[in-house]
Amino acid sequence: MLGFIGCGTMGGTLLEGIIKNQLVAPEKIVIFDQDAGKMLSLKDKLEVNTATNVQSLCLETQKIFLAVKPQDMKELLLEMKPVLNAGHLLISVAAGLYISFFQKHLGKSVKIIRIMPNTPCLVGEGMSVISRSQAVSEGEEKEIAALMGSLGKVISLEEKHMSAVTGLSGSGPAYIFLVMEALADGGVEMGLSRDVALFLAAQTVLGAAKMFLQTGEHPAIMKNKVTSPGGTTSAGLLALEEGAVKASLIKAVIQSAQKEKNMLLEK
Ligand SMILES: NC(=O)c1ccc[n+]([C@@H]2O[C@H](COP(=O)([O-])OP(=O)(O)OC[C@H]3O[C@@H](n4cnc5c(N)ncnc54)[C@H](OP(=O)(O)O)[C@@H]3O)[C@@H](O)[C@H]2O)c1
Repeated sequence: MLGFIGCGTMGGTLLEGIIKNQLVAPEKIVIFDQDAGKMLSLKDKLEVNTATNVQSLCLETQKIFLAVKPQDMKELLLEMKPVLNAGHLLISVAAGLYISFFQKHLGKSVKIIRIMPNTPCLVGEGMSVISRSQAVSEGEEKEIAALMGSLGKVISLEEKHMSAVTGLSGSGPAYIFLVMEALADGGVEMGLSRDVALFLAAQTVLGAAKMFLQTGEHPAIMKNKVTSPGGTTSAGLLALEEGAVKASLIKAVIQSAQKEKNMLLEK
């Protein structure tokens, strides 16, 4: 049986993806959220089972996704602790909470997998990065990676890279939304309707990303190929360089990653 504690944005997204892709049957899933409204609406929509509290969920399930906010995690772990045993595998999607945090509260031998997903999981194009504690076997990690694979791409990395991952793929959708909004604003300024401008911007972002993923060609080479001497793209690129767009995006990743590291220090 698979458990989910926390049925908000991320818990609900993961649950829907797993069921939609028929990786686990709804009758083999038990969910719990302290917000009964959220829990019952997911139960109605997905026909999963619900638990009456955290401890009863732990008694019914062995693999448990923890999808509560980082600031709620400690209290949740303390509630779970009395009923956890060596067979339980916990999967946390909380930003900024390291494996050592779970070991501190549940003991060194706790089986914990840490995942940093992102919101495009909602449309099956997520990017999830996985790290595991020593107590977790390769097979168990593969099983969870397969579940996450139903929501997009998955890779495993050492946990020391999680801050960088948070700064890039975790926070990255917001950066790209801002880029799309700005491109569309430019189109509107030049006379396009808002709808058409946003559609053009979105399909351009999608197409450029797909070109890289399908050809593997370095973005700088693809950029040079579409930049003819004295042409329109060259004029546009000059404006981006003047606005230090590249440096700004590099700084965005660094500052988001540093913020994640500081969240840990604040714990
Ligand atoms: N949203 C994203 O884009 C995203 C991306 C990557 C990672 N994450 C991670 O995903 C986690 C969840 O984020 P979210 O955006 O899904 O949060 P959310 O929408 O607030 O959902 C969390 C849910 O957990 C419930 N909850 C809190 N403590 C609980 C407890 N002890 N027992 C049962 N339920 C409890 C909350 O209830 P109340 O509302 O009553 O507090 C809420 O319904 C976070 O740790 C976040 O770092 C989110």
